Amino acid sequence: MLILGLESSCDETAAAVVQDGLVIRSNVISSQVLVHAEYGGVVPEVASRQHLATVVKVVRQALTDAGVSAEQLDGIAATCGPGLVGPLLVGLEMGKSMAYALGKPVVGVNHLAGHLAAVFLEHEKNPRPPPFPHVALLVSGGHTSLFRVEGQARTVLLGSTRDDAAGEAFDKVAKLLGLGYPGGLVIDGLAASGDAKAIAFPRALPGREDLDFSFSGLKTAVATRLAARARPEGSALADFCASFQAAVVDVLVRKARRALARERLRDLVVCGGVAANRGLRQALSSAAHEDGFKLYVPAPVLCTDNAAMIALAGTWAIERGERGGLDLSVDPGLPLS
Ligand code: KG4
Ligand code: ZN
Repeated sequence: MLILGLESSCDETAAAVVQDGLVIRSNVISSQVLVHAEYGGVVPEVASRQHLATVVKVVRQALTDAGVSAEQLDGIAATCGPGLVGPLLVGLEMGKSMAYALGKPVVGVNHLAGHLAAVFLEHEKNPRPPPFPHVALLVSGGHTSLFRVEGQARTVLLGSTRDDAAGEAFDKVAKLLGLGYPGGLVIDGLAASGDAKAIAFPRALPGREDLDFSFSGLKTAVATRLAARARPEGSALADFCASFQAAVVDVLVRKARRALARERLRDLVVCGGVAANRGLRQALSSAAHEDGFKLYVPAPVLCTDNAAMIALAGTWAIERGERGGLDLSVDPGLPLS
């Protein structure tokens, strides 16, 4: 089964072809980062226009890279939410139009279900995917949540952020430090040579036993500290980044451990853009070693937004018999059921 996936929920226009829910035949990602960088964040209207300008090119490239024609596809899957309404519409309408013209099935995919599915890709490299049920920590620019994942389309929300998402905290702190947008990867790089104990930033653990997160206090602590003294440079900047990153990572790791203990599960998946963070990957693999749980992390390119994960979640939906009609629409606040 050959499924074309389309992803356009934020600032990446992506298309991918996945075969039999296992093999990534192509994975094309056109990032708008440079366009939005000058504004210090994603401008929704600009993002919509960029998606419009690139979506056809990206789809053509995905088909060419996969070595398949549009007629050979067995179905099309497009992200239908959550995300920015204009950008979502471009990808979904593209998918619906192709499906109508080709007479193929189309399904709308929840972006978060895509992130949760990413770890099941690259079957050749990861022949033993996580069993169901498992715990998933989804950390991205828009979301920070813990799920109990019961099956391909069955999840129970265990906890989520009460304010900022982890990626949002990285991006806002990077902006305060004058490191540009998006800043997660830059902070990750600088933190590698810094001392994580240099500054004791607060660890927010609202309610000792719950599985929710909060990052706004940490962001305020960073802003307050920066307002009181000169912007750090050189090794002081590396120490600052390492200390901030450690505060985020500490909380994520503690809550993930707590979720595994509470659910009595021994398999943890980490996904979403922040799962590409080296500090988080290292801290989680040490915790896995200490506690005896198994850690599953997609390759960095499958952690950040991509269409291969959408094609896989779409493959599962089509296998379940789901079909979208031409009235299929986007929902910017689509919850994960
Ligand atoms: O999953 P994603 O591509 O988009 C959303 O669905 O939000 O995640 C993007 C977020 C951004 O906030 C970005 O700064 C963060 O992931 N990110 C990172 C790293 N790579 C991307 N944060 C920390 N360390 C990284 N290496
Ligand atoms: Zn995402």
